[in-house]
Amino acid sequence: MSKASETAPSNLADIDSSAWSELETAAVSQQSGFRYVNLCSVDAEAKPQARMVVLRGADRSSRVLEFHTDTRSPKWLELSANPHVTVLGFCAQTRLQFRLQGMVELHGSGSDLAKAAWVRLPTWSRMTYSGGPPGDERAFEAINESVPSRLADEAEGEAHFGLLIFRVRMLDWFQLRRQDNRRALFTYDETGALAACRWLNP
Ligand SMILES: Cc1cc2nc3c(=O)[nH]c(=O)nc-3n(C[C@H](O)[C@H](O)[C@H](O)COP(=O)(O)O)c2cc1C
Repeated sequence: MSKASETAPSNLADIDSSAWSELETAAVSQQSGFRYVNLCSVDAEAKPQARMVVLRGADRSSRVLEFHTDTRSPKWLELSANPHVTVLGFCAQTRLQFRLQGMVELHGSGSDLAKAAWVRLPTWSRMTYSGGPPGDERAFEAINESVPSRLADEAEGEAHFGLLIFRVRMLDWFQLRRQDNRRALFTYDETGALAACRWLNP
């Protein structure tokens, strides 16, 4: 680990600001360590579930993160029943772990937010919503079939597209260092304003 990677603000307000800058960058940069994060939910049997998702949007003023998914997926059903989630990410360059907690709002096809997000999606991303329901069994012969046509994508995919708006209420910030790891906790109120922050023992 380089010394540069251990350079981080030592003031809590600056750490909060820098963490949200990292998230905003990750939403637009495929190179960012927080581009792919773990979205964790609780299923109907109270078992923890986790899966990688692409961070599609981040807004520091409202403390909102945005994800896209298929409304036929198990996660959509889980989140409909229990919207409490944890999002976990780690950036190897900065050695930072972010553990974010809050609740998601689900915006299915036909909603204004889902329609607006669908319009912004590139064709290759839209294609991922035009296949069979996620998690259903697939015949081996179908695996090498050609990808669906753009027309099929346009017609079918949008009906399965869903947007998750994650309102963050807590950020557990952890920096892995050669010595003296650092950890801090930030909580946000319902408007997204910083409500409290403090250092924690790592
Ligand atoms: C790097 C990576 C990024 C992924 N991004 C997404 C995503 O943005 N949205 C999504 O629904 N699934 C994404 N997936 C697939 C999910 O991890 C998961 O396998 C799938 O959504 C089914 O999850 P579920 O059965 O819990 O609903 C991604 C997988 C990987 C490996």
